[in-house]
Amino acid sequence: MSFRTHHALDCADLGGREVVLAGWIARRRDHGGVTFIDLRDASGLVQIVADPELLPVVEELRMEFCIQVAGEVRPRPEGTVNPDLATGAVEVAAHTIEVLSPADTLPFMLDDRTDLDERTRLEFRYLDLRRPRMAANLRARSDAVAAIRRTLDRLGFLEIETPTLVRSTPEGARDMLVPSRLRQGAFYALPQSPQLFKQLLMVAGVERYFQIARCYRDEDTRADRQLEFTQLDLEGAFWSEADVQAAVELTVAAAVESLRGHKPPLPFRRLTWHESMDRYGVDKPDLRFGMEIVDLGKVFSSTDFRSFASVLEDGGVVRGINAGTREFPRSSADRLTELAKSWGATGLVWLVVEEGGTVRSPVAKFLSEAEISLMIRDLGATAGDVLLLVAGEWSTAVSVLGQLRLQLGRPETHEDLEFLWVTDFPMFEQGEEGLTFLHHPFTSPQDLKVMEERPLEALARAYDVVVNGVELGSGSIRIHDPNVQRRVFDILGISPPEQESRFGWFLRALRYGTPPHGGFAFGIDRLVMVLQNEANIREVIPFPKTQSGQDPMAGSPTMVEESQLLELGLEIADDD
Ligand code: AMO
Repeated sequence: MSFRTHHALDCADLGGREVVLAGWIARRRDHGGVTFIDLRDASGLVQIVADPELLPVVEELRMEFCIQVAGEVRPRPEGTVNPDLATGAVEVAAHTIEVLSPADTLPFMLDDRTDLDERTRLEFRYLDLRRPRMAANLRARSDAVAAIRRTLDRLGFLEIETPTLVRSTPEGARDMLVPSRLRQGAFYALPQSPQLFKQLLMVAGVERYFQIARCYRDEDTRADRQLEFTQLDLEGAFWSEADVQAAVELTVAAAVESLRGHKPPLPFRRLTWHESMDRYGVDKPDLRFGMEIVDLGKVFSSTDFRSFASVLEDGGVVRGINAGTREFPRSSADRLTELAKSWGATGLVWLVVEEGGTVRSPVAKFLSEAEISLMIRDLGATAGDVLLLVAGEWSTAVSVLGQLRLQLGRPETHEDLEFLWVTDFPMFEQGEEGLTFLHHPFTSPQDLKVMEERPLEALARAYDVVVNGVELGSGSIRIHDPNVQRRVFDILGISPPEQESRFGWFLRALRYGTPPHGGFAFGIDRLVMVLQNEANIREVIPFPKTQSGQDPMAGSPTMVEESQLLELGLEIADDD
C-alpha cells in the first residue's frame, strides 16, 4: 500500500472524498477533546480534525511527528474558513492516525516568525528547511534552474559537465586545493569557474555550451559570497557581444518570469563602466533610486574655499549628491563624516538647504552666494534637502559618494527589479605589484594598439549584469589569438617561462583554429536571493557555510587522521 492517496494541497478540491495523507505536525490545538492538527507536506498545509475517540493516539502526538492520516475531506463549519490558506475552506475528519516516526523536542519553532540565531539554524538545517519560507526558497531555486535549462535547450545549447579536479583557473581568488595521493606533493585545484574548459569546448567545435557549475573560491564570505557557489555558465562560438547579451537576457528573463510571474523589460538598460562610476560611484549601480553624483567642478572653479580650491588646482574633483529631505541632526553629520573618512575621503562637506536659498553648514561662511545658488541648482535641491559633497581624486570622491548614496537611499528589499548591463570595463588596474586584470586574463581588449601603448587606458570587451546593486554575472569576448593572449600575460607581468608552465597547455589549444567566442556566467545563488527578496545568499543555499566558512551541522572543516595525511605525504606544520 502506498503511504498516501493525495497531498495536503489537493484537499482544497476534494470535498466529500476519503483521503490518506502523510506529513508532519506543524501545529496542534486542543478544544475540549477535539484536536486540530495542521498537517504539512511538501505541497502545503491542511487542517486535520481528530474527535475524542482518537484521543489515545492524539495524546502521543508532538510537534513535527511524522504521521499518516486517513479521513474524509469536508467543508469547514461556517465562520471557521481561513482565507489565507489554500486549503482554508476544508478540513479532514480523521478516522485513523498513525505515527510513522516520532520527533525529539525541537531546538526551535519552525514557523517563519521565529528570529533565530544562524548557527543554530545551520546546525539543524534539516529542520530549518522545513520552515515555509525556506521550503519556498528551495522550490524557487529549482524552478529558476528548470526555466534556465528549458530556455537554453530551446536555444540549442548543449549542457556539458567539466571537471572539478583541475589545474588552477585564475579568477582573482585563492584556490581551494586537493592533494593528490598518487602524485604526492602535487595538488589539484577546485575550479574558481569553468572558464578555460568552456573555451576549450569552443576549440572542440561545440558552438553553444552551458553548465550549472559548482565553483570554489577561497575568499572571505559575505552576504553575497560563499566558498562554494553555483554559476550558470555559458559560452558561444562565432559570437560577439550582442549575441552573448541576447542569450543572457532571455535566460535571466525566463528565471525571473518563473518566480515573479512576469518578464523584466528587455533589452536591459546599459551604462559604460566609466558612466557608472561617474554617476553612481560603483561598478554595480542600484538604479532603483536617484541621488546621482553631480559634478560641481564648474560651480567651485574660482572658489575662495581653500579645501575645494586646492583639490581642483591639483586636478581633483568636487562632487556631490542630494540626499533629499531628511532629519539631519549633528549626530548624523558626524556619523556620515566618519564613514566617509573610513572610505578614504579627507572630509565630508554637508549642507542643509533652507527657505530662501541659503544653507546651514559649517562651511557656509566660506561659500559665495553665487556658488550656493549654482550648487542648489545643479543638485536639483529644494528647502530641507541635505547635500553631501566630497572633494578629492576622482576615484575616491565618486566611490565615497557612491557608498553614501547606498547607505542613505538603498531600498532594503527587492520588490522592484532594475537590471542593467555595465559595459566597457578597463582591461587592467594598478595593483600593488604591477598591473592586474579587472575581469580575468582571457578577456579581449577592445583595441590592441591602446593596450600596447597605454595599458591602463585600454578597455576590455567585458560586460556585467547588475540587478538592484548586486553584481549578478559577468562575461566577455575572449582572446582567441595565442599571440594576443601572450601579450596580455606579458602586461600582467607573467614571464614567458611562467606562461609556458602555467598556461602552455591552453596556449597550445588556441593554435588549432580557435573560433572567435565569448560567454558569460551568472550566480544562481545571487539571482534566486534577489528574486526571493532575501538579503543573504545563505537563505537560498540548502547547506551553506557560516561567515567563518564552517558547517555547524557536520562540523567541517575538521582535522583528519594522521594516517590520511601520511597517505597523502602531508604533515601539519607546528604553529610556532
Ligand atoms: P565572475 O568571477 O564574475 O566571472 O563570476 C560570475 C558570477 O558568479 C557569482 N559569484 C559568486 N557567488 C557567490 N559566491 C561567490 N564567492 C561568488 N563569486 C562569484 C557572481 C558573479 O557575478 N569565468 C567568469 C565568467 C565569464 O567570463 O564567463 C567568472 O567566473 O554572481
